[in-house]
Amino acid sequence: MKLLARFGRRYALPYLPWYAGGFVFLALTNWLAVQIPVHMAAAIDAMGLDPDAVRHEALLIALMGLAVIAVRTGSRVLFFTPGRLVEFHLKNDLFAQLTKLQPAVYARLETGDIVSRASNDVAFLRALVGFGTLQICNVTLALLLTGGEMVSLSPTLTLYVTAPILVGMLILQVGIFNMHSLVRTAQVQLADLSDHVLSSLQGIGTIQGFTAEDAFIQRMDDRNRAYMDTNVKLSIIRSLIFPLLAMAGGIGLWALLEYGGPMAVRGEVSVGELVAFITFIAYLLWPLMSLGWLVSVFQRGLISLERIDELMYATPDRPDLPHPVTPGVGAPGLAIRGLTYRYGEDDEEPALKDLDLDIEAGTVVGIYGQTGSGKSTLLRLLMRTRNPPEGTIEVDGVDLRKLDLDAWRRKLAVASQVPFLFSDSIRDNIAMGGSDPVEPSVELAALSGDVEHLPDALDTIVGERGIMLSGGQRQRTALARALYRDYDVLVLDDVLSAVDQKTEQRLIDSLEQVATSERGDRGRPTTLLVSHRMSVLARADKVVVLADGRKVDEGPHLELIERPGPYRDAWLAQDDGRADA
Ligand SMILES: Nc1ncnc2c1ncn2[C@@H]1O[C@H](COP(=O)(O)OP(=O)(O)OP(=O)(O)O)[C@@H](O)[C@H]1O
Ligand SMILES: [Mg+2]
Repeated sequence: MKLLARFGRRYALPYLPWYAGGFVFLALTNWLAVQIPVHMAAAIDAMGLDPDAVRHEALLIALMGLAVIAVRTGSRVLFFTPGRLVEFHLKNDLFAQLTKLQPAVYARLETGDIVSRASNDVAFLRALVGFGTLQICNVTLALLLTGGEMVSLSPTLTLYVTAPILVGMLILQVGIFNMHSLVRTAQVQLADLSDHVLSSLQGIGTIQGFTAEDAFIQRMDDRNRAYMDTNVKLSIIRSLIFPLLAMAGGIGLWALLEYGGPMAVRGEVSVGELVAFITFIAYLLWPLMSLGWLVSVFQRGLISLERIDELMYATPDRPDLPHPVTPGVGAPGLAIRGLTYRYGEDDEEPALKDLDLDIEAGTVVGIYGQTGSGKSTLLRLLMRTRNPPEGTIEVDGVDLRKLDLDAWRRKLAVASQVPFLFSDSIRDNIAMGGSDPVEPSVELAALSGDVEHLPDALDTIVGERGIMLSGGQRQRTALARALYRDYDVLVLDDVLSAVDQKTEQRLIDSLEQVATSERGDRGRPTTLLVSHRMSVLARADKVVVLADGRKVDEGPHLELIERPGPYRDAWLAQDDGRADA
């Protein structure tokens, strides 16, 4: 209910005038519909007595019929349009929210589930906002107006007709109660199904490469079957509603003839009124029958609302403070103090343990460590794609968490270890919405030679996730994307892992050029460089050595290779490193 109120305020309230207009039209529709049998009764009772009156009533009935068509159409337009508009705004808002949510949320919700929420659940909610609201008003109005008219004609007959229908409704409640949990199950199963299809498509190469098709087809079958079973159960319950109410209506009709007939003979009601009551039964039954459908629209809509709400109000995990500090101009210095970080709250082993590190403004700091030692974790915390504990990272003396996150990120250029490319041209993948020419960064990233051989050069569409490019080309495209930006901090996570020696040498030259470029009052950028290659690390101002999340050594390359430790061991083992140093 709280959800509904919050949702209603934000999305439905702006359309109140639409709903109000729709309601007036609907009331008019129902009032006219109820008047028709009343005039029919009058016409029947006047038959043979007053031909003029009969003609008059018949004309009136015909006009009313025409008017009903007009106002009913009007009411539908007025009710359905807000549904579409709400859907439109909701989809935009959800997408905006999705761009803000951080990895921790995505680790919890599967992509298919999210997609299902943003499409299926939004559609269910639209049905509730449009059709559902219309029907609720319609049913209420029809029952009130028809009921009121019936009572005013004959309270006794009303009782005969409505008693069986009320009993039918009570029985119905039991079914509706059972449906609710089934509806929820169905929605979760649908999301599960979507996720399976989506992740299978994403991993289709792996499935085929491992000839795992049958296993995945079987999993599809299981999920699909579960969803179908739930829906079959639901439709059985739903199907029961219709005959149940039809039967109640039949009993009402029987009561009308059994007891109403003699009343007409005794002159307590007129024949016309009896006929009007027969029409009223149909008027009562129709909205009641649609009630079964309406209930499912409501159940689905409300559960969808919960599921959408969970996304919409999931904490983006970016504690933007009310008055964030704007980072200063130019390359910042970083101070890391006692940084311990766990990915999960109950992880025993932290990914980083009690790390202290100073990174002076405008210097190049290499980060070395074996796989799983926490290098990428450190970079993620600096980018704040994960939030560092309070007070552990300071940027020019200000807690990183107090900085305006967007402003901080605009200062960063990041080439991550597992680069993501969009199904766009190389140019668009590098520019990411920017308008400057990309050629200089392509050159710096030693990508020009590769691009020349592509069919449309920079405008070649790289396919989903860059499938058309080699691993090394993807890596350098991501590097070009980072170098393209207007950065003060350059963060490169292992961007040299997939290059040959010639390209490596060119990249090292590029990086040296980039790292030592004085840019007016902004100075040299602060550069963080994760690598295993001694040839690269040798150029850094200092190298930090991580092992199991701890800092085990720190210093310039030339000092580190003199001291016993993992760094020296690696250096001794790496031929090209010695040749280069
Ligand atoms: N998203 C995550 N959730 C939970 N644990 C994670 C996550 N990412 C990394 N870890 C864990 O944190 C530890 C450090 O990982 P990290 O990615 O920082 O290593 P790395 O030094 O970058 O390794 P590599 O050289 O292989 O890239 C590892 O034990 C890893 O299992
Ligand atoms: Mg890593």
